[in-house]
Amino acid sequence: MKRAKISIIGAGNVGATTAHWCAAAELGDIVLLDIPQTENMPKGKALDLFQAGPIVGFDARIAGTTSYDDTAGSDVVVVTAGIPRKPGMSRDDLLATNARIVGSVAEQIKITSPKACVIVVSNPLDAMVQKTFQVTGFPPERVMGQAGVLDTARFRAFIALELGVSVEDISAMLLGGHGDTMVPLSTCASVGGIPIAQLIPHERLAEIVQRTRDGGAEIVGLLKTGSAYYAPAAATAQMVEAIVRDKKRVIPCAAYCKKEYGVGGYYVGVPVVLGAGGVERILEVQFTPHERLAFQKSVNAVQALVEAMTRLTG
Ligand code: NAI
Ligand code: 2OP
Repeated sequence: MKRAKISIIGAGNVGATTAHWCAAAELGDIVLLDIPQTENMPKGKALDLFQAGPIVGFDARIAGTTSYDDTAGSDVVVVTAGIPRKPGMSRDDLLATNARIVGSVAEQIKITSPKACVIVVSNPLDAMVQKTFQVTGFPPERVMGQAGVLDTARFRAFIALELGVSVEDISAMLLGGHGDTMVPLSTCASVGGIPIAQLIPHERLAEIVQRTRDGGAEIVGLLKTGSAYYAPAAATAQMVEAIVRDKKRVIPCAAYCKKEYGVGGYYVGVPVVLGAGGVERILEVQFTPHERLAFQKSVNAVQALVEAMTRLTG
């Protein structure tokens, strides 16, 4: 069987760690690309990771490069290029710089991998995925953003910690933008099938929801030099897996919503069916009145972000 070709643009913390998770799961052959100024850094990381294969027991060709020629014909392209947050910065502070970087990356993807599914990770996520969609001109189902898998994982991890149970038994869903307005849906969270509201008092659950919203900032505050990358990369690899193995996973992704949820043509986090065709379906959740308001507030924040990006970079 032909192996999938997975290219990862940006060989920094998230990019290299995504390569690691993808290789360990034998999702395909991997190309790790960064800018020419990094000289041989992507080659060094790729060679190092390749040499882990005999120990861990994975077969994957892993190449590092600064040339898009090596990424040609990719099945999946992951975009992690850009600058990360430092303490005191919001994701939105990255807007102008990363929009220029992601725009130039998208131009190259359009030429070299015209049939790829593109997973955008760079922040501010909801604007960067919109930029990639605009520049590539790819069908919306083939351009998506990673945020919801990470934010949901944080929510699940905090619930497991609270109850002293396995993370595997926590199921949760989270919608909206990848920012302070994200909407963890407590009504959709359960522990081994038991609704979360039966196990955690309302006030405590509200604190867990807030910690989830602040999850990225909590790690930035601890690391000081950058932002989270182990969980973001694992989340991205899960999306790559859903596509290359056509798993039809139901997971939250930043997906292009036009009629769906009445969003009107923006990328926001919603539950999707993710398979070989990319975002094969968007699932519409029935909100409580409170959740509907929170979701609308998040959509408004995403729209304002995209408009600010358009003003700054066209
Ligand atoms: P990093 O600084 O470790 O790596 C970024 C890499 O991008 C660097 O190696 C840099 O040389 C490269 N780069 C810059 N311009 C480029 C270009 N034009 N072409 C190719 N490569 C280029 O940063 P890190 O921690 O890997 O984060 C990457 C991005 O992902 C940031 O914008 C960060 O905010 C975002 N992020 C998003 C998450 C999400 O859930 N959506 C979670 C974590 C990070
Ligand atoms: C995070 O949520 C920085 O977006 C990144 O960790």
